[in-house]
Amino acid sequence: MTSGNILIAPSILSADFAAMGEAVQKLEKCGADMIHCDVMDGTFVPTITFGAHMIAAIRPHTDLLLDVHLMCIHPQNKIADFVGAGADMITVHAEACGSGLTETLRYIRSYGIRCGMAISPDTPLRNVYESLEWCDMLLVMSVYPGRGGQKLIERTLSKAEEARNFFERNGLQKDVEMDGGITEQNVGIVKDAGVNVIVAGSAVFNAPDMAQVIRNLRERT
Ligand code: DX5
Ligand code: ZN
Repeated sequence: MTSGNILIAPSILSADFAAMGEAVQKLEKCGADMIHCDVMDGTFVPTITFGAHMIAAIRPHTDLLLDVHLMCIHPQNKIADFVGAGADMITVHAEACGSGLTETLRYIRSYGIRCGMAISPDTPLRNVYESLEWCDMLLVMSVYPGRGGQKLIERTLSKAEEARNFFERNGLQKDVEMDGGITEQNVGIVKDAGVNVIVAGSAVFNAPDMAQVIRNLRERT
């Protein structure tokens, strides 16, 4: 996906869960590049959202890439279900994988789909240096995982910059995604930090005109 321009990945966390098929159809119509699916297990984070069945339910409603963000413990045990449900990319939290992070990334890739690695605000990039080459995308969380509608934590921008510099220094073509608190007002500084995949949930779903906010997010970067 590292085509150089910005990709907009609205999060369905903020969608109407009673009409998720229509929500993803509308996102595609309004110009989204990918669909960010926030899976929360109630253990890694306090909230429970949805599992692989939701991915299977929305799959027939869109051809967009389904970007599954697993905020779950023992994510290795869940990969097969989400692949079977139609996930195109699965991102696991470094904090949930411990020493098995690289192995988990390689396991996701063994299914022929893209793999991502997420790091929470308090996790330094150096903790995952040796696994970075194995992911297709690094997700730098700009909020503490578990809820939508939070404020972007500005100190996480320097981590995105550090990651972009690390990839460039090592000749690695990787996507850098940021997730949490991104709005039309701050998307410019997010992009300037080297982020090329923008997750936005509440900014998109709370807007009166979804297509306009997706255009603005793209144009302001
Ligand atoms: C947090 C979730 C949220 C969501 C985006 O665990 O990952 O960050 O995707 O939420 P907003 O855009 O509403 O902050
Ligand atoms: Zn997310």
